Amino acid sequence: MKIPTFFSYRCRAVVWALLCWTAAWSTSAWAQADDARAKKIAGGSCFLCHGAQGESTSEVFPRLAGQHAEYVAKQLQAFKSGTRKSTAMAEMVAKLSPDEMLALGKYYEKMTLPKEEPKDPQLAGMGAYIYHNGNKFSGVPACVSCHGVTAEGAAHLPRLGRQFASYIEHQLKMFNKRERNNDNAVMHVVAEKMTPLEMHAVAEYLSGK
Ligand code: HEC
Ligand code: HEC
Repeated sequence: MKIPTFFSYRCRAVVWALLCWTAAWSTSAWAQADDARAKKIAGGSCFLCHGAQGESTSEVFPRLAGQHAEYVAKQLQAFKSGTRKSTAMAEMVAKLSPDEMLALGKYYEKMTLPKEEPKDPQLAGMGAYIYHNGNKFSGVPACVSCHGVTAEGAAHLPRLGRQFASYIEHQLKMFNKRERNNDNAVMHVVAEKMTPLEMHAVAEYLSGK
């Protein structure tokens, strides 16, 4: 029997609508399952150091709130493969799958941190200058060109705003000494040109951003 064209169009439209609805529903169901899994992992171990809201319980542990999902997943993978060395983190990621790493990244990416005033405004002022202009006398590039005007970064560029000053300073030193070398090419060139005072100042500025 030949189906009238009018009917077949309607029929196809209904089938498409159903397919789209099923696809949308299953995507959101997957996203929800991933979020629940991330919440469970974070609540089971990560919160001990990184805090329940990604705010971190001590300056020794970097803040994860608002950090980009892809960057977080990349670092977790690097801790697992051992290319980024951290005794604390190696143990934490040993059993995580790539999907769980990305889910954890998305979980922390949604969190926000309140703005805190820098403890030393003069130092932060010097840091602001370096962040936005670099140091043309020694060749330090302006951080803003990669990490963004509000230091919010992008998928593969870490957010630096509102991170603990001591963590930022420590990472700059590790990039310089090539002790952080999972992806060191760019940041080694930046850090090797910086004086200890410049590192200290830029970190102070970013912590209050
Ligand atoms: C015992 C404390 C501890 C626990 C628990 C812990 N971490 Fe960490 N984490 C650290 C330390 C310390 C560092 C900094 C390592 C370094 O100096 O390079 C870190 C770094 C990180 C970083 C890199 C951040 C950045 O800005 O580059 C991510 C991402 C991270 N942790 C995620 C997690 C996740 C997800 C969990 C749970 C599965 C977790 N951590 C559990 C101590 C911990
Ligand atoms: C040409 C681009 C570029 C410039 C300029 C740049 N950065 Fe970066 N920075 C990166 C990239 C890329 C990474 C991430 C490396 C990785 O994926 O492991 C990074 C990582 C970092 C981290 C580690 C953050 C964390 O959460 O562990 C710090 C701290 C940092 N940069 C500070 C600075 C400062 C301060 C300046 C300016 C003096 C600067 N960067 C200039 C590209 C840049």
